[in-house]
Amino acid sequence: MINPVYSPSAARYDCGMRYRRCGRSGVLLPEISLGMWHNFGDMNPFSNALAMAHYAFDHGITHFDLANNYGPSYGSAEESFGQIMKKSFRPYRDELFVATKAGYDMWPGPYGNWGSRKSLMASLDQSLRRMNLDYVDVFYSHRYDPETPLEETMQTLVDMVRQGKALYVGISKYPADKADEAYRYLAERDVHCLLYQGRYNLFDRVLDEQGILAQARDNGAGFIAFSPLAQGLLTSRYLDGVPEDSRMAQGRFLKREVLTGAVLEKIKALNEVASGRGQTLAEMSLAWLLKDETVTSVIVGASSVSQLEDNLNALRNVSFSDGELARIEQICEGQA
Ligand SMILES: NC(=O)c1ccc[n+]([C@@H]2O[C@H](COP(=O)([O-])OP(=O)(O)OC[C@H]3O[C@@H](n4cnc5c(N)ncnc54)[C@H](OP(=O)(O)O)[C@@H]3O)[C@@H](O)[C@H]2O)c1
Repeated sequence: MINPVYSPSAARYDCGMRYRRCGRSGVLLPEISLGMWHNFGDMNPFSNALAMAHYAFDHGITHFDLANNYGPSYGSAEESFGQIMKKSFRPYRDELFVATKAGYDMWPGPYGNWGSRKSLMASLDQSLRRMNLDYVDVFYSHRYDPETPLEETMQTLVDMVRQGKALYVGISKYPADKADEAYRYLAERDVHCLLYQGRYNLFDRVLDEQGILAQARDNGAGFIAFSPLAQGLLTSRYLDGVPEDSRMAQGRFLKREVLTGAVLEKIKALNEVASGRGQTLAEMSLAWLLKDETVTSVIVGASSVSQLEDNLNALRNVSFSDGELARIEQICEGQA
């Protein structure tokens, strides 16, 4: 049987998704974005990837976050996205906001990693080919490269914009002092840094403590949070052990060692607070991030449509009572 041609839901902008302005820019991003780090590679069934992408767009998720080496194997998440573009999303390109990045390990030899002009320019060209796109909406320097002059990396981002291959640029995981230099370098060349992308969740507040969120806001950049569910820890996934099909069972990026007795106690206690709010733990964890206007969007990962559905339900209630916030702090600080 041939699957019918994809036709997105006519109600995609009327089903609860809200859009936040991305710093001082004309761009609006959905409060929940979909990341393709896991579950979209060539080791995963394409049918599941396609179903998640359709579900996301049908529910107002316009922003898809990729990088050159997402998979596994490297490049294959972009290839899957390229197939999705071809099969489904091509007529809707102007409704989509697509991100890619480079700066981590990608291809062998001296030019397949880090932040040189040589590496980043080649990587973006490869990404565009894999994704069947003429341009990306935002290209990120994936991490700060201590060996390459920052000016070289930043000038490459400027030139990508001038060439029309990226509409906007961003930085990911930059330390505060280097982020400062990056914001300045780009602004002086009339290329606004649209986004800072960093890890931020209930269990990991380091970037907020370091002032990275405030720094992004002060520089007119949006802040977009990755791993908002701490790779699944901040969900019901591990309440009763480690499921065989979970990211932790794969053991590559989420190690079993992190699920200590103390962490499990916190997860269980947070789960109780979530239940009291009529939410799942995943919903509450995302809502907790979105209560803060400095957070432009959260990039969720999901391995199924039902997880994505659960995550989208977070938008139904993103306000917290003082009591709930105090209890959450108490739990996260380990004083439960
Ligand atoms: N800039 C960077 O350096 C960087 C780094 C990391 C990530 N990112 C971006 O951020 C995105 C998200 O990162 P992430 O995948 O770590 O995000 P996450 O949302 O914290 O974790 C996603 C995982 O949590 C589990 N999960 C999600 N929703 C769930 C639900 N409702 N109930 C139960 N379990 C649920 C799933 O695990 P199972 O697979 O076990 O089902 C899923 O794969 C990435 O795809 C990528 O785009 C960027």
